[in-house]
Parts: sequence; structure tokens; C-alpha cells
Amino acid sequence: MSLADLAADARIVWRMLLGQPGGASHAERLEGFYAAQAARYDAFRARLLHGRSDLIAALEIPPGARVVELGAGTGSNLDSLGAACRLDHLASVQLVDLCPSLLAVARQRARDLSNVEVIAADATTWQPTQPVDRVILSYSLTMMPDWQAVLANAQAMLAPGGRLGVVDFHLPGSGGRLANRFWKRWFGHDGVHLSAAHLPALNALFEATFIEERRAAIAYLPWLRVPYYLFVGRRHACIRAATD
Ligand SMILES: C[S@@+](CC[C@H](N)C(=O)[O-])C[C@H]1O[C@@H](n2cnc3c(N)ncnc32)[C@H](O)[C@@H]1O
Repeated sequence: MSLADLAADARIVWRMLLGQPGGASHAERLEGFYAAQAARYDAFRARLLHGRSDLIAALEIPPGARVVELGAGTGSNLDSLGAACRLDHLASVQLVDLCPSLLAVARQRARDLSNVEVIAADATTWQPTQPVDRVILSYSLTMMPDWQAVLANAQAMLAPGGRLGVVDFHLPGSGGRLANRFWKRWFGHDGVHLSAAHLPALNALFEATFIEERRAAIAYLPWLRVPYYLFVGRRHACIRAATD
């Protein structure tokens, strides 16, 4: 790694140590947190956000599918999508996010991809004009304060038989009280809210086809192993309400 890369990483670590800044709205808080990180986001998060390409592979995305990512950030999952299926064979890919700095990187990345649309909108309310086949939530559910509304919204936009895929940090049942309290505080400082309720809610709302609970090393702190999960589930024939 070059000195310039190390300096850029140091700025990101400093931002994380400072925590998510205040702001009148959720969108302002996200922008305050990510604006200085956007240029180096992909390289840094590649060592922090594990399992994203495994999730995309587990989603078994068929040619012609309509795909939405809620909380898509810089659109880095486009690379995994391209590896798992022919991007140009998909009907559409819609990348939805609230943070202007990350969306600018996503627009740049998608500039030559005619079937990819980058959309500035809130994942709790945004809806596509027609039902979609796959919805992806990649390390975004923990950053969405009204996550139940996001899951209900994702459920509502899926076509019958469509699938939701989620990869994210969480507080596992097997985690132990002290360890779970540590992770909750550690990530909560940056506006990332780990929960023990996400995976049970996903299991209640969707018919699970793939679940894995894992642990991964953190950039610069390899002795710590953070718990995360992958979930893929089919939309039930009858939509159920999201609960805690
Ligand atoms: C940790 S980043 C993950 C980005 C990307 N999915 C990835 O895997 O690299 C979480 C993203 O969720 C977005 N986000 C948080 N709340 C949101 C909301 N209510 N609507 C849309 N995006 C939101 C943030 O702006 C941020 O880009």
C-alpha cells in the first residue's frame, strides 16, 4: 500500500473515531459522515464489508431480471453483479441511496451502463414503477433507523417469487452479552446499529433459501472478529407485516 493510500485510510479511521456527525435529517448525517470518505470508500470497505460477492452469487440472478439495491452507496456491488451474471443481460439495475457524495461515485461507475440507474431517494419510501425480481441490502439495513419500514418497502416492491438478499453485521444469539454490547457501542458511534432483531424479522417476513452466520476480521484490527450474516429469502405469496 502506498503512503498516499495509508494517509487516505488514516483520514477514514479518524472520521470513524469522531463518529457520525449531527445533522437535522438522516440524509444530512449520512453526508456529514461519508463526504470525506467517498473517494477512498471502496478500497477501505473492501477490507471491512465481507461476504458481498457471496450474497450476490447466492441470489441466483437470472438473465432479464430487474434488480434494486437499497442503500447502494458507491455502487460497488455492480462489480460482484458483473461477476455473477452478465450485467448487460439484466433488464435493469436501480441503485438507491440518500448520500450525495457516494451517489456521485456510483454515477461515475455506471456512466457507460445503459441499464443501470442511480437514484437519490429514501429506501423507506422509494418504489420502482414495476415489481422487481431481486432486492439487495448490503450493509445498509444497520444504517437505516426505520429498518422495519425498509423491509416492508422491499417486500412490497418484489414480484411474486422475487428474492431479497441481505448481508450485514448483527448481534448473534451465540454472541455473548458482553461481546454484543461491545459491538453495539463500537458501530453505534458511526450510526451503524447492530441488532439481534434483523435476522429473526427477515425469517418471519421471507421464506429463507440461504442463511449463513459468519465472523470476519476488521481492517487494521485483525484480532477482532465481527459477526455478520448473509440472508436470501423469497417473497411469501401473502405479504406479512414487519414486527420487532
Ligand atoms: C455501509 S453503506 C453500504 C453501501 C453499499 N451497499 C456497499 O455494500 O458498499 C450504507 C449505505 O446506506 C445508505 N443509507 C442509509 N440510510 C438510507 C436510507 N434511508 N435510504 C437510502 N440509503 C440509505 C447510506 O447512505 C450508505 O450509502
